[in-house]
Amino acid sequence: MSQPAGCILPLLALLLVPPQGSSARYDPTWESLDSRPLPTWFDEVKFGIFIHWGVFSVPSFGSEWFWWYWQKEKRQPYVKFMDTNYPPRFSYEDFGPLFTAEFYDANHWADILKASGAKYVVLTSKHHEGFTLWGSKYSWNWNAVDLGPKRDIVAELAMSIRNKTDLHFGLYHSLFEWFNPLFLKDAASIFTTRNFPSAKSLPELYEIVSKYQPEILWSDGDGDAPDTYWNSTGFLAWLYNDSPVRDTVVTNDRWGAGRICKHGGYYTCSDRYNPGHLLPHKWENCMTIDKGSWGYRRNAQLSDYLKIEELVTQLVKTVSCGGNLLMNIGPTHDGRIAAIFEERLRQMGVWLGVNGEAIYGTKPWRAQNDTLTPGVWYTFKPKEDLIYAIFLHWPISGTLVLGEPKTIAGKTEVKLLGHGDLLKWISLGEKGMVVNVPQIAFHQLPCPWGWTLQLTNVN
Ligand SMILES: *[C@@H]1O[C@H](CO)[C@@H](O)[C@H](O)[C@H]1NC(C)=O
Ligand SMILES: *[C@@H]1O[C@H](CO)[C@@H](O)[C@H](O)[C@H]1NC(C)=O
Ligand SMILES: *[C@@H]1O[C@H](CO)[C@@H](O)[C@H](O)[C@H]1NC(C)=O
Repeated sequence: MSQPAGCILPLLALLLVPPQGSSARYDPTWESLDSRPLPTWFDEVKFGIFIHWGVFSVPSFGSEWFWWYWQKEKRQPYVKFMDTNYPPRFSYEDFGPLFTAEFYDANHWADILKASGAKYVVLTSKHHEGFTLWGSKYSWNWNAVDLGPKRDIVAELAMSIRNKTDLHFGLYHSLFEWFNPLFLKDAASIFTTRNFPSAKSLPELYEIVSKYQPEILWSDGDGDAPDTYWNSTGFLAWLYNDSPVRDTVVTNDRWGAGRICKHGGYYTCSDRYNPGHLLPHKWENCMTIDKGSWGYRRNAQLSDYLKIEELVTQLVKTVSCGGNLLMNIGPTHDGRIAAIFEERLRQMGVWLGVNGEAIYGTKPWRAQNDTLTPGVWYTFKPKEDLIYAIFLHWPISGTLVLGEPKTIAGKTEVKLLGHGDLLKWISLGEKGMVVNVPQIAFHQLPCPWGWTLQLTNVN
């Protein structure tokens, strides 16, 4: 029984390991597509910026769901906003030419995005309004090249990001469109006809992948239609087998009704998903700096924007639990990243400049947060055997109690990132350790919104 194991086990292991790289082929079934290993870069980078930009940025009122809330749900604030500020027969389509983007400078955006410390960017190539930020052949002129700025917004950003930064370039794409007559007709037939995906969403998807070679394809908006209606598995099999980005592309899980959090690439589960515990599957927390909207809205109050402390907390908690953070900004109709968004982005970059070692390329540790002190989150670098304890409240007592790391006499070392000196500590045996934080003045802190202890030789 035990005798042949020596030769059979490695052989078995060889057979069971999923084939890697460009030689692997996938069938258009979830079983096969889900077996594709997530390209490794995605887990390493941890932090990306989401950009919601489109015609909804023109009214820039309430939400990027403006059209739907105004015309379909007839929500009072939206109806009143239109009645008060626009002539009687003004339609949503009339906002198209007002999407001017005259200050849109993709090189400047790239500089700001790079300064944030993010390693990927995801731009809404098309939201549920159907307006494409590139000159799609399938958009009947409802796009940024024929209307409004008369520029290929997607091409300009892709070029600047690739030319000036090391960020991975990604595109968001909405499958359905609220008011597209083809989609509404399919919906009326309970998706037994498939005119809209054949004429619109699928050709568009092939078009953006071939033209812009995004390394992330962030799908959204299933419109309550099943993945069979969208032919998502057929498209993904092409994406993984034959597309120009087959080796590096990463996708999410929004490919059909009821499939979210179950199939595709990494999981997004729901907007602002942040479970607070470790998940067995790679996931992403997509969230907004403006708590109330993904698109820019002029009626946001200062208190609607998350503070940098809250954004750092989101990042730390997300990464400790195995997720990536995709933090959203909404540019203005004329192409500016408003100063408040720019400030938050640059602050994240400052924080990552000091603490990035505890974020990029890390893995979740055996414990995600501390059992004794709230607001302490752990990350881990297995190869270097380094554990990072990120603490979000500076202890006024001068000592930080950590219940999880167990010290090794004569070996354990503790450092504050950005400070240098080794810190003193006391062992609590099986109950953890107490670290003396340095007694330094506020202006000597390496960074004011969260700090990292690097622990060497602890269990
Ligand atoms: C790429 O970036 C460099 C340096 O910022 C700039 O001089 C050059 O014009 C850019 N090239 C393109 C094609 O944008
Ligand atoms: C789905 O997509 C695949 C790959 O492009 C294609 O071969 C197949 O014909 C499509 N199926 C339907 C029903 O559209
Ligand atoms: C943190 O750790 C404690 C104790 O192990 C646990 O009960 C709690 O749910 C964890 N998560 C958060 C978000 O604090």
